[in-house]
Amino acid sequence: MIEILVGAQWGDEGKGKWVDILGEQAGIVARFQGGNNAGHTLIVGGQKIVLHQLPSGVLRPHCIAAILSGVVVDPVGLVAELAEVASCAEVAYDRLWISARAHIITPYHVWLDERLESGLTRPIGTTKRGIGPTYMDKAGRSGLTAVDLMELPHLEAWIERRCAESADFAAHYRDNPESWEAFFEAARRVSPYICDAEAKVRAHLRGDAQVKLLMEGAQGTLLDMNHGTYPFVTSSNPTAGGAVASLGIDPRKVSKVYGIAKAYTTRVGEGPFPTECQDHAGQILREQGAEFGATTGRPRRCGWYDAVAMRYASEVNGFDGILLNKLDVLSGIDELKICIGYQHPKYGRLSEFPSQPDVLAACRPVYRYLGGWREDIRGVRALEDLPLAAKNYVTAIQEFTGVAVKFIGTGPGRQDFADLTVSLLN
Ligand code: IMP
Repeated sequence: MIEILVGAQWGDEGKGKWVDILGEQAGIVARFQGGNNAGHTLIVGGQKIVLHQLPSGVLRPHCIAAILSGVVVDPVGLVAELAEVASCAEVAYDRLWISARAHIITPYHVWLDERLESGLTRPIGTTKRGIGPTYMDKAGRSGLTAVDLMELPHLEAWIERRCAESADFAAHYRDNPESWEAFFEAARRVSPYICDAEAKVRAHLRGDAQVKLLMEGAQGTLLDMNHGTYPFVTSSNPTAGGAVASLGIDPRKVSKVYGIAKAYTTRVGEGPFPTECQDHAGQILREQGAEFGATTGRPRRCGWYDAVAMRYASEVNGFDGILLNKLDVLSGIDELKICIGYQHPKYGRLSEFPSQPDVLAACRPVYRYLGGWREDIRGVRALEDLPLAAKNYVTAIQEFTGVAVKFIGTGPGRQDFADLTVSLLN
């Protein structure tokens, strides 16, 4: 059984928590795209853990964690992360499978990401983790795969080629021997985990029809390279199709696709964001929601729930349901807004998400206003225990998005959620 969880907005929807909760019954949890630009925060036993590359299933002792072909791997970061989770979970070689096909982020790619960001006339606001340049190399067929990581002569020849291509990089390489030493050391430590991860996952699914594979998206649908707000996107496909392509599997084997969304919207970096609040409301959402990047610490741009963008995300992914996070953050706000359409100065009223970022940037949101609630709903576990205004808000989200809300997040912990699959709403 394959279930795919993807971010339905611009990332940071709180995917780590849901993968952790739904991963309880999973035999395998797999990351299928992105790299250490992601930051999935989990609270386990009161301890906060931020995972950047390791699939969230790594914290469940009986779960296999797989990093598939569509991911870009930073060995130095991965070694640091393995050391960090060591206090909670031992990650034996047979419990972490890294695809031999995955591409490798080197100090060269990080260097290039920083250079491109500082030189672009229209910066993207990347995480500067080398993600874009690594995918550029992959698409240009000049990248390093995890297999090359195990072969020192391959690595050395690749670095030599890069130095010959760019005098600037050659100087950087010469002047930063410590970052390359750390890279070589990490490569050595990561190598035992590298295998034909896709074949192993498929064999596992063939061997046991009951086993559940949970595919954990990073970033979000609106950052997808094909379907997002290009060029303000990440360089991979954080959508359900991306999961299928990364594993290499019959798409008909996917049982469920869930979209994870916040009860409001955030975005990090540049790019259009119609419901962004640059006023007091945005500040309240940022403060109450602790909206600062888990990877970069950057303050996130905050705004209201955008049902137009969510309908689009549902169409792109085929959502079976929404996992609605951080409803508790809205407590105490007197008036809530849900964007149900856009108004464009030239094209008038739009109900569809436009394909061009410039058109989206010129759109003004058309809002439906709803009353808020004063009660603290943190940790509420049943729909019946929510104030009426909160129930009305969730019902309105369902109605305007056209997708059932299956779970509601009411706090950061593993226990802080209400399961609506058993409620009257579904
Ligand atoms: P990159 O993925 O570092 O190349 O950054 C490209 C864009 O995606 C930038 O706007 C980033 O802020 C955004 N981005 C990348 N990863 C995440 C994430 O995990 N959450 C939210 N935004 C992200």
